[in-house]
Amino acid sequence: MASREQRGSVRTAVIWDALEAALGGSPRDVVDLGGGTGGFAVRLASSGHRVRVVDPSPDALAALSRRVQEVGIDVSGLQGDVADLVEVAGADSADVVLCHGVLEVVDPVLALDRLGAVLRPGGRLSLVVGQRHAAVVARAMAGHFGQALGLLDDTAAIDARTGRRFTVDELTALLAAAGFTIDAVHAVRVFTDLVPAALVDLEPGSAAALVELERAVAERAEYLPLATQLHVLATRS
Ligand SMILES: C[S@@+](CC[C@H](N)C(=O)[O-])C[C@H]1O[C@@H](n2cnc3c(N)ncnc32)[C@H](O)[C@@H]1O
Repeated sequence: MASREQRGSVRTAVIWDALEAALGGSPRDVVDLGGGTGGFAVRLASSGHRVRVVDPSPDALAALSRRVQEVGIDVSGLQGDVADLVEVAGADSADVVLCHGVLEVVDPVLALDRLGAVLRPGGRLSLVVGQRHAAVVARAMAGHFGQALGLLDDTAAIDARTGRRFTVDELTALLAAAGFTIDAVHAVRVFTDLVPAALVDLEPGSAAALVELERAVAERAEYLPLATQLHVLATRS
């Protein structure tokens, strides 16, 4: 496996474990908000799910379309924004909605409201967001102490490159207010971003061992504040 691809699969292994368990064996209607070039959508469609990607970026949708043709599967790429998600995808039209790496750059209250409206009652939300405590540590380790201090308590802090960051408590409150019940919260990339890439790329067996370690801590609450990302599975009440 190429190094880039290998690093990508190490970073997403914990998310895939939980997502595939939540999807179960039968084909589902999936809407991937901000699905971009199809990193998640293509694999889901290859597993037999009916997937629609809603994304505002024409470039991302063009790349998705090329990828889908290469693989020979069917994914609908729809140009749309979080604000018009319901018009574009349809109310009560999905069994599962994905919102991975998007809540950071949109209005989270609006997004969760629209995602809930697109889900059928009892449908599941798969949410991946950047986690604030790990971002504070990463800024401090890079010597950006002022930025780390600024991120510490500022729930509205928006980094120009990476957007907003969330804590588990903030996500819990946002999801409850939007009518979701949380089923599981997973720690994602607790160690992966701290390990030199060359070590994982070059040391035989180290990528697999790192994935095993990430899986071992993913459901341990004490590791959540160390995770670069949080993966939440929630059900529309
Ligand atoms: C960090 S990428 C994540 C891509 C993909 N979900 C993943 O996890 O690999 C963020 C995506 O959000 C999309 N995006 C940005 N603003 C958006 C908005 N207002 N509504 C919906 N999607 C948006 C971008 O075009 C981009 O594809």
